[in-house]
Amino acid sequence: MLVDSMSQRFEDDIERILFTPEQIETTIHRLAGEILNQYRDQPLTIISVLTGSLMFISDLIRLLPIKLHLDCIGASSYGDSTTSSGVITITKQLRVGVRDRHVLLVDDILDTGQTLGYIADVIRALRPLDLKTCVLLDKPSRRKVNIKPDFRGFEIPDFFVVGYGLDYADQYRNLPYIAVLKKGVYKT
Ligand code: IMP
Ligand code: MG
Repeated sequence: MLVDSMSQRFEDDIERILFTPEQIETTIHRLAGEILNQYRDQPLTIISVLTGSLMFISDLIRLLPIKLHLDCIGASSYGDSTTSSGVITITKQLRVGVRDRHVLLVDDILDTGQTLGYIADVIRALRPLDLKTCVLLDKPSRRKVNIKPDFRGFEIPDFFVVGYGLDYADQYRNLPYIAVLKKGVYKT
């Protein structure tokens, strides 16, 4: 029902649905299992990269029955275009301390790697015990920075995708699925 009404509302913009809400849910359960195996008895700090990872992080942490701290970091590199400008600005600083903590950095998508690479450097400078990364989507074909996620949901080809938190020009984040945008809708 939700998927149907969303699809009707956005049918002019969406080429096709890549991952349904059910596929996303299954994948997040798998990721939660992997993360639990890694951190079961360890104090964990999760840092979520705003804004795209909001839905992912909220679904993920509700599947983690462990003691954890949660904070968000804001980073931006995009204007209205679909390729990273490469210049990353921190738009919201961390509030919790990460020194001597196990840190898991969570983002929606790893594309060129410039955003996560930059944020990982910022966090490493704060001397955590260790730092791992978790992304829902991975587009390895476009990588410019040598970074591999420790936990990853789906690998995708070079599509520009929106929904489930991911945006184009701050739109489409509310779609309950992940979809490929029609070519005419965005400028590259
Ligand atoms: P990177 O710095 O090129 O790895 O880009 C990472 C950031 O760009 C992500 O956190 C997203 O916000 C955004 N991004 C990259 N690819 C896509 C996409 O296909 N759809 C929506 N946002 C994307
Ligand atoms: Mg993002």
